[in-house]
Amino acid sequence: MARRIIIAGNWKMHKTPAETLRLLNGLKVRAVNISNVEMVVCPTFVSLTIAAEALKDSRIVLGAQNMFWETEGAYTGEISAPMLKDAGCTYVILGHSERRQYFGETDETVNKRMHRALAEGLKPIMCIGETLQEREDNRMFEVLERQVTGGLAGISAGQMADVVLAYEPVWAIGTGKTATPEQADEAHAYIRGLIAKAYGDTVASAIRIQYGGSVKPGNAAELLSKDNIDGALVGGASLDAESFIAIIKAAE
Ligand code: PGA
Repeated sequence: MARRIIIAGNWKMHKTPAETLRLLNGLKVRAVNISNVEMVVCPTFVSLTIAAEALKDSRIVLGAQNMFWETEGAYTGEISAPMLKDAGCTYVILGHSERRQYFGETDETVNKRMHRALAEGLKPIMCIGETLQEREDNRMFEVLERQVTGGLAGISAGQMADVVLAYEPVWAIGTGKTATPEQADEAHAYIRGLIAKAYGDTVASAIRIQYGGSVKPGNAAELLSKDNIDGALVGGASLDAESFIAIIKAAE
């Protein structure tokens, strides 16, 4: 079954608001003729409102890189789902490995964020993936199962229509080492199997699973040609208009 490819740029802690506008202008002119790929950019929080304004007349949609699970309150430094909605976000990345690694995110806290995002009408891009050590210890499948079941605990089949998964092997992020298309497809097939077990075949065949980890213009087409790879979550190569659009064109 044909799933609409989704290419998302995770800008991480890059680009000031002024730089955001310059990059978006570069993307907009290059993206005018692209209609069959869903395009998402995820700038930092301080750039979201101006990015939403800049993207009004384009097909590129906006996402955030994280959010807290409470809607408001005394949580200094946090950002809520209603704030992201109001700022113009459609998507929110949750559980990125950098959040897990440096900021103490667990499957449980990712799950709380998932519930809040969906309740407030944001579409979560939930990231999962094993470390190099876990892969070498042959624990990849076990780790993926724990992350999928933990992160999606209590999410209904109906809600799954708004969920995107991103398989990002930690050893491939920002390292220039990409999973081979076969390695990625194997992990994606396993993840889709977990979704089938939990939600049935219809949900499993509809859910989009992005690959992330050193996706570049030169490897995107081969990765995206795999049956179970429905898009890409792009870090470094999304910071330049030419290379991000080249990845999107590879997806077309
Ligand atoms: P990368 O990052 O493309 O720079 O490897 C991907 C990600 O962390 O989402």
